[in-house]
Amino acid sequence: MCGIVGITRKRGGVISEIKKALKKLEYRGYDSSGIAIVNGNSIFVIKGVGTIDEVLSDVKLEDGTTGIGHTRWATHGGVTDDNAHPHTSCDNKVALVHNGTLDDFHYLRNKLRERGHVFRSETDTEVVAHLIEDKVRSGMDRLRAFYESIAPLSGSYAIAAVFAGSNEIFLARNKSPLVIGLGEGENYCASDITALLHLTNRFIFLDDGEVAVISPDEVRVWRLVGQEVIPVEKEVKEVSWSPSLIDKGSYPHFMLKEIYEQPHVLRQIADNVEYYLKFSQILAESIETGRRISFVAAGTSYHASLVGKYLFSKRLKAQSDSIVASEFLEWGDFIGVDDLVIPISQSGETADVLEAVRRAKDLGAKVISIVNVPGSTLTRLSDETVYMMAGPEIGVAATKTYLAELAVIYSVVKLAESYIEGRSPNPEEVRKTIMEVSRVVESNLPFMDEVSVKLSESISKKRDVYYLGRGINYPTSLEGALKLKEISYIHAEGYPAGEYKHGPLALIEEGVPAIVLMPVNPDLQSKIIYNLMEVKSRGAMTIAVTPEELELEDVTVIKVRWDRPTEELSPLVYIVPLQLLAYRTAVKLGRDPDKPRNLAKSVTVE
Ligand code: AGP
Repeated sequence: MCGIVGITRKRGGVISEIKKALKKLEYRGYDSSGIAIVNGNSIFVIKGVGTIDEVLSDVKLEDGTTGIGHTRWATHGGVTDDNAHPHTSCDNKVALVHNGTLDDFHYLRNKLRERGHVFRSETDTEVVAHLIEDKVRSGMDRLRAFYESIAPLSGSYAIAAVFAGSNEIFLARNKSPLVIGLGEGENYCASDITALLHLTNRFIFLDDGEVAVISPDEVRVWRLVGQEVIPVEKEVKEVSWSPSLIDKGSYPHFMLKEIYEQPHVLRQIADNVEYYLKFSQILAESIETGRRISFVAAGTSYHASLVGKYLFSKRLKAQSDSIVASEFLEWGDFIGVDDLVIPISQSGETADVLEAVRRAKDLGAKVISIVNVPGSTLTRLSDETVYMMAGPEIGVAATKTYLAELAVIYSVVKLAESYIEGRSPNPEEVRKTIMEVSRVVESNLPFMDEVSVKLSESISKKRDVYYLGRGINYPTSLEGALKLKEISYIHAEGYPAGEYKHGPLALIEEGVPAIVLMPVNPDLQSKIIYNLMEVKSRGAMTIAVTPEELELEDVTVIKVRWDRPTEELSPLVYIVPLQLLAYRTAVKLGRDPDKPRNLAKSVTVE
């Protein structure tokens, strides 16, 4: 996944602005970067392998009023200077940047080579620059040359192109996000709003198959139909996210900041509980009319959906499915007309989730999504969208958005329960509960962090770490393991505690860490203590996240100070020490928790 940015304005000094915006997209990928600046009848390009600071630190370019930038996560072509974006035409009169992957570009490249074009990179992107050049050479104007070059492309793309001698930026979007930001006497484009929030809070979200041209005073959008374009009117959306939310402040990493933001996020949701009434009513009606209900999500959001599946069963006595997004096309054929599909996605751009939603709609399902990023593609594909109000999450590892997802699901379930039981819902009671959890998380954070720093001393030396949970904390064990492996690169596995004896127990040996999530419910406690003893007797280094009053012999405990702990809310509290342990271990190992290797914040490719 890559990040693209474009700025066109009347005043000069565009280089520093492009760099500032690009820096906010580095979580999307950063193996190489570059910018192109239009200067009179020339385009100056500087690009190469390395981060934005490394490549663009002392840019010896003439400044200008129009430019584009790119931060790359290599897909087609290795990590080399030539493969870095922007890519240019033979005559350097066209430059462009691209996020996505184009199918069968080799055919187009060979045709262009036959027409004398010389390629400097192995990338799919460069083909588009030569396609445009070829059409301009044949006498087309810039707009027609642009959209006739886009029309034959297949695959995913968010493209921004500039021409020498023009202050216009040409945009095209298909399956990769691309937003337009509106300024005063200047306009912008970027892969997502976080790059532009310091410049504007007014956005136009392009849809698949749309092209656009932005200049300092004008934004025009068309829908591409075959080789022709039809003008479209686009809604301008105002986003209330403050730019301060995408600043690390005094924190060393976004991930730590976002872990500590969790109490605030829970208060946001608590303050707006009434907002979830409509969704809870639809859920209650779907259950009462016997609709099948399926969650679909990926990664951390998938773990949240498992908690949803548990609460639907435990509280609403409703059966639901929780399908991994990338498997939906294989496992979702049972879904029928008017069934309810609930995608959960922080970014709203996860390609696997979007594909699943397109399939669900083809099957006639009603789609209500739980999303964080306003205006994201999923919000425009869904019949209804419910926002999780977590604010921008920059760290690649999901933390505060996981808690937000759990809090939204819990709130919706509690409100739906009233509808099903024929009572009027009591938002005030739900508000108080979420506020209580916010206080518990806030009061425990410092202590949990202290313990995590100490534990990271030993955990950072381990090769494998195992997490055991039962009931509603089985998903917590999965999420805790995902956190550790994705940012520290230590192998970790979450598993239902009762399942270890069916195989994984063979992996337990002297000193292997086993992290157990102790239930609040006494019946479950006795079962999991048995599992704890199983692994302990085989030499495991046992660690338990446990309610304060529970005494455990000869086990390292992370005690949760919580006056009235409840099983159903324990995942919101228990995940916090696991997030902190993952973070502290990663830092101990010298990893960058915000930009873990091989990963991206939102996976916009399938
Ligand atoms: C979680 O820490 C990872 N960043 C990843 O598993 C993520 O949850 C997954 O890619 C889904 O992202 P989404 O919620 O934006 O759809």
